[in-house]
Amino acid sequence: MGATQPGPNNGGSEQVAHPGRVIGVTVAAAVGGLLFGFDTAVINGAVDAIGEEFALSPGVLGFTVAITLLGCAAGAWFAGQLADKLGRKSVMVGAAVLFAANSVGSALAFSAWDLMLWRLIGGLAIGTASVIAPGYIAEVAPAKWRGALGSVQQLAITLGIFAALLSDAFLANSAGSALGELWWGLPAWRWMLLVGVAPAIVYGLLALTIPESPQFLVRRNRDEEAAKVLTTISGVKDTDRKIADIRDSFKSPKPTFRDLRGPKFGLQPILWVGMAIAAFQQLVGINAIFYYSTTLWKSVGFSESDSFTTSVITSVVNVVMTLVAIAFVDRIGRRKLLMIGSAGMFVGLLAATVSFLQAEDVAGEVSLPGIWGPVALVGANLFVVFFAATWGPVMWVTLGEVFPNNIRSLALGLGAMVNWIFNFIVTLAFPWVSDNFGVWIMYAIFSAFAVLSFWFVKSKLPELSGRELEDREGLETS
Ligand code: GLC
Repeated sequence: MGATQPGPNNGGSEQVAHPGRVIGVTVAAAVGGLLFGFDTAVINGAVDAIGEEFALSPGVLGFTVAITLLGCAAGAWFAGQLADKLGRKSVMVGAAVLFAANSVGSALAFSAWDLMLWRLIGGLAIGTASVIAPGYIAEVAPAKWRGALGSVQQLAITLGIFAALLSDAFLANSAGSALGELWWGLPAWRWMLLVGVAPAIVYGLLALTIPESPQFLVRRNRDEEAAKVLTTISGVKDTDRKIADIRDSFKSPKPTFRDLRGPKFGLQPILWVGMAIAAFQQLVGINAIFYYSTTLWKSVGFSESDSFTTSVITSVVNVVMTLVAIAFVDRIGRRKLLMIGSAGMFVGLLAATVSFLQAEDVAGEVSLPGIWGPVALVGANLFVVFFAATWGPVMWVTLGEVFPNNIRSLALGLGAMVNWIFNFIVTLAFPWVSDNFGVWIMYAIFSAFAVLSFWFVKSKLPELSGRELEDREGLETS
């Protein structure tokens, strides 16, 4: 398979005629990312209060937090398939409804079990958003902007994490603590969870206003609508040729799991590449920082309020550095950016590993003596700098574009599911391994994965920068 001649990649059929429009639909889809970030991070401020209110053991409390990640994995898996059946737009609207239900349900939960159920539903929504935005954006974006526009989703995720941190702190401060009562007699922790309903409604309304993706429309033989989206949003001049290229890229009218099959270990090689990239993004340990930051900064020697300030700074670094990725991803390419990221993350993680090797036990708590506290602090933030500018956004962009049209949604769902499963594993393993063997072991493992990720990108990942989604020459065999 490949592009018909003259191919979409050499005919110059793409012209960014309406940058405002394509940016508009990108932002609308990326609001799902904002909810992804917000809903994964918002539990941080509420978790202790929930434990107290429902008198939960640490194990049950940990599970209440982590169950969302399992929901995310399931959501990612089903969203891919639903996106092909119902369309990208309907799936976004469905996710918005689930997001809203999760916020209201969790906020009003009357028991830990009830809360777990709502958090699982929230996970389905987050997993869905994590799949639908990269896929949709890759399909509507002009090739030369696809990396930058795809990274807007990660920018939204980082803004969501930041917003959750601020919203939690504001509500806890207003009530005196997360258990303190606010309006309508509800404790602050319930308000923290309820806040997410507002962006969920905005997401649903925006999703109703955007058009379907050209790839979905062509597959449904809705060529006229596809042509309209291609001209008004993607800036394509020769829509007939583009539609022919899209049609040509579908091997079968309806994608099935059989289309995922290939000669290597039962799956197409490109699927293994996508899944590995998705796994590496978690195996370098980013969420050990975002989910356990308070513990981290306390061992550096910070007080509660300094820990909070440091978490805010890290969150801002995360947002700002994502802008760097947006600026460079289409200019220097995905592969180079990911390799720079792996190298930089390794340096930061190594500094944290060496620091935590010096850890002392002070009254049952990990504590870093002398210079090692600041070294760990700088190391962890250096790691975030490199992650945010590279692997954070580029992994999601890659998942959106690396698979051929005929299996994109299915394969993207599979890749995203792998990402969430590894997120779940790292999140559960981090406190347990740290308690039993020392924090440094986890950082040493993360450092090793940073090295492996460098090697993997260098030897296995094809460069997709500037290429049409339909132009796959040489990619299937990689
Ligand atoms: C990426 C990761 C996500 C992480 C976030 C931090 O989106 O997939 O797990 O929390 O970056 O910015």
